[in-house]
Amino acid sequence: MTARVIDGKATAAALRERIAGEVVRFRDAHGRAPGLAVVLVGDDPASTVYVRSKGKATLEAGMESFEHKLPADTGEKELLELVDRLNDDPAVDGILIQLPLPRHIDADKVLTRIDPDKDVDGFHPLNAGRLAVGLDGFVACTPLGCLKLLRAERGDLSGLNAVVIGRSNIVGKPMAQLLLAESCTVTIAHSRTHDLPAVVRGADIVVAAVGRPEMVKGDWLKPDATVIDVGINRIEAEEDGKGRLVGDVDFASASVVAGAISPVPGGVGPMTIACLIRNTLVSAARRHG
Ligand code: GUN
Repeated sequence: MTARVIDGKATAAALRERIAGEVVRFRDAHGRAPGLAVVLVGDDPASTVYVRSKGKATLEAGMESFEHKLPADTGEKELLELVDRLNDDPAVDGILIQLPLPRHIDADKVLTRIDPDKDVDGFHPLNAGRLAVGLDGFVACTPLGCLKLLRAERGDLSGLNAVVIGRSNIVGKPMAQLLLAESCTVTIAHSRTHDLPAVVRGADIVVAAVGRPEMVKGDWLKPDATVIDVGINRIEAEEDGKGRLVGDVDFASASVVAGAISPVPGGVGPMTIACLIRNTLVSAARRHG
């Protein structure tokens, strides 16, 4: 193996420690802790794990965590009313609605109801628009975490060829906007892209966010490329029947060619949570500023 393994866990721990220090100063100055409300509808196992991790990280940073766990048959109207209450609650600086929502609820409607100034997930169209035109706003936590890893690894990103694989509103599109703002030459590839390996081969930076286990192979990569793997795919292991987590990149073959690569787990995942905590602190500070 030649690639450096990008330690997202360590970078996230350092970021969370710095934020915890700033939270102490915030409490001293304002007599309260920043607060994050997390809403989970239903009992999807993966979402339940994510919500638990987010609540734990919030408390560890010295912040208030408000968890709202609602049954899967919660009506859209009821959820919108909860969002309204959280929007009006001065103890709540950030609101996160865990996705996916049950199919009978219009997710766009719910996300658009969140006060954009409490939208620490950065999913509100106003924040997506702010990012696109270079205004201050909240940036989605996963792409923000990827950018922090890339900056730590490569320093100045200006002029580099970046390929983002995946065009979701949550990762692919904001990731491309962030890289463009860093003056990268950005390509967004997706399921209809012709000859994806050839497109990836031109990239100094590859961000894979497609949700296909181990799709990106080592022989697709430019030697020394920096590879950020956003995928979290559970696959069944034949030997013991237990699932294991793999990314969207075939780590074994990619780590022979890449200059640096983020592992799964322990790469992007911890950074997403650290950035959520960061966005919540920023929101609280803006509310007082
Ligand atoms: N579901 C998967 N990733 C995310 C995320 O970053 N935020 C929210 N709210 N839901 C998710």
